[in-house]
Amino acid sequence: MTLEDFKLRTPEQYKEAQQQAIKNPDLFWAEIANTFEWKTPFEKALQYNWNDTPSTEWFAGGKLNITENCLDRHVATQPDKLALIWEPNEPHDTPVKLTYKELLEAVCTFANGLKNQGVSKGDRVCIYLPMVPELTIAVLACARIGAIHSVVFAGFSASALAARIQDSGCSILITADGAFRGNKTVPLKDIADDALKTCESVRKSIVLQRTFEPISWNNKLDVWWHDFVDGLSSSCTPEIMDAEDVLFILYTSGSTGKPKGMVHTCGGYMVYTAYSFMNVFQYEQDDVYWCTADIGWITGHSYMVYGPLAVGATSVHFEGVPSYPKWNRFWEICEKHKVNQFYTAPTAIRALAKHPSSHVTNHDLSALKVLGSVGEPINEEAWNWYDTHVGKNQVPIVDTWWQTETGGILISSLAGVTPQKPTYATLPLPGIQAALVDDKGNPLTDKEAEGILTINFPWPSIARTIWGDHKRYQEVYFSAFPGRYFPGDGALRDADGNYRITGRVDDVVIVSGHNLGTAPIENSINEHPEVVESAVVGYPHDIKGNALMAYVILYNTTDDSERLIKEIREQISNTIGPIAKPDRVLIVSGLPKTRSGKIMRRILRKLASNEMDQLGDISTLLNPEIVEEIKKELS
Ligand code: WT7
Repeated sequence: MTLEDFKLRTPEQYKEAQQQAIKNPDLFWAEIANTFEWKTPFEKALQYNWNDTPSTEWFAGGKLNITENCLDRHVATQPDKLALIWEPNEPHDTPVKLTYKELLEAVCTFANGLKNQGVSKGDRVCIYLPMVPELTIAVLACARIGAIHSVVFAGFSASALAARIQDSGCSILITADGAFRGNKTVPLKDIADDALKTCESVRKSIVLQRTFEPISWNNKLDVWWHDFVDGLSSSCTPEIMDAEDVLFILYTSGSTGKPKGMVHTCGGYMVYTAYSFMNVFQYEQDDVYWCTADIGWITGHSYMVYGPLAVGATSVHFEGVPSYPKWNRFWEICEKHKVNQFYTAPTAIRALAKHPSSHVTNHDLSALKVLGSVGEPINEEAWNWYDTHVGKNQVPIVDTWWQTETGGILISSLAGVTPQKPTYATLPLPGIQAALVDDKGNPLTDKEAEGILTINFPWPSIARTIWGDHKRYQEVYFSAFPGRYFPGDGALRDADGNYRITGRVDDVVIVSGHNLGTAPIENSINEHPEVVESAVVGYPHDIKGNALMAYVILYNTTDDSERLIKEIREQISNTIGPIAKPDRVLIVSGLPKTRSGKIMRRILRKLASNEMDQLGDISTLLNPEIVEEIKKELS
């Protein structure tokens, strides 16, 4: 049997698979997993305990290397098939096309470089690169030798990078002189140098030449990528890994200051990303698939690198931004590479929809078969624009709900196979036992219901722990509703069982598709010497989905609030990254608090959203008068 035999092509096949997966999860996933290449077969698919100290193991005891499944396996049968079509920032620069054979060779060469550096199984390697082919190569090279990659999005600041390197104790950093992003360049090496001042664990920094801008150089630490790989062999025996060995760490924001290093393991992650990729996007062997994400996010890991490569797909990777040189860039690329599946985020769709539709209609998009959305709830307007202008009402849209923690898509329609419904992620994938509970954890058993989303049974790609902090893993994901996985989202369900995600129920705000914890932003603001306390909340924004508003209390009143606000925004940009800068900063004399001293963010959210008449009962507050004051300030 091959993975292709598990492709679901009709609604009945989907239903059948869902029933089988619930009835006998072990057998269901074992059969799928057995279509991959194992050095030693696993004996039992699943072992888990979601009570006490949560643990989940899939295919434990089975031995494999994920890169063999993603590369060598395809090189054996179709070496010249394109794995990667890389579209550079400048539209007139030539795309880089890598066949499976070429990609394997590049991966092995770089892997040999890492080995020469003494990197071995279990070592952590931080990758801080722009969206260039070398990013994919570096990721896979780590996996080849069993090193654990930790990719940090190249838009993050020096201190965010440093915090991630420190947390996982990376010994190697892979970066570039700079990054191109539209008409800007980002001085990555400078930022990395800054970060490394506080990262003693790093003993080598490998620097890719991309922008050719001058950089500072430390002979002891730095080595150019091209020198690093010079003269190395292009074959490298894959490290044999247990299915439950760590493949990578990827950080996501949490509701306390420290980012959470989500740990994903080899076997289950491979099986689930491949299976979900093939089924959600209905990928056929000659298709060209394009996901516009950055590999710095989980979407990039699962659906630009591992999932597509595991099924032998051809993927487009794009270095630039949708607006450069013009707002037609996405559609120009779709036309140029005859893209069949296109996967992007609602924030991009909303930004594109603000510009004349001629940007879309001037391009031949007739190759498109599937449109995808990920990252946040897609509002009806954006959904309709996507459907009408890009899909010409002919192309199925998959609204895919998942998280860094889930590793793969959990709720989505299967393109053109199961029904779609605007603004609904629709049905759980086979093996995903989604449910709703009320805030006390009581199951909501009516067909139609609204509540908090939980997943009641393990799936292969769930993150196994938070790096170095299993206790926090338990607290965040398994303590709210014992025995169930708590993703932190609210949802409603219609009579047909379709789920619509209504948004976060914790203190995470999604701005332009970026998952931002409000706590770290508050911590950053509070570090300003003039600030006593602050609260950050999200409010609806036309393009970004949500924008941030910071309420700030000062020690002393200031007559130069403009300077102060500028400094606060700067500070956030430096400690977290430009994406976390609040759109609005409001200086207030107090914050609405409960009698136990907890800031009432719900009220602050309503105020920021200009829903002044929906504040609810504020009489129980410690300081109801402050609400009036803020109202006045805002009007
Ligand atoms: C949070 C996870 C999954 C990769 C990108 C984000 C929100 C994600 C959807 C969707 C409604 C969505 C959720 C989730 N989210 N996809 N299709 N509909 N909400 O990964 O940074 O880990 O964020 O993004 O709130 O919990 P992430």
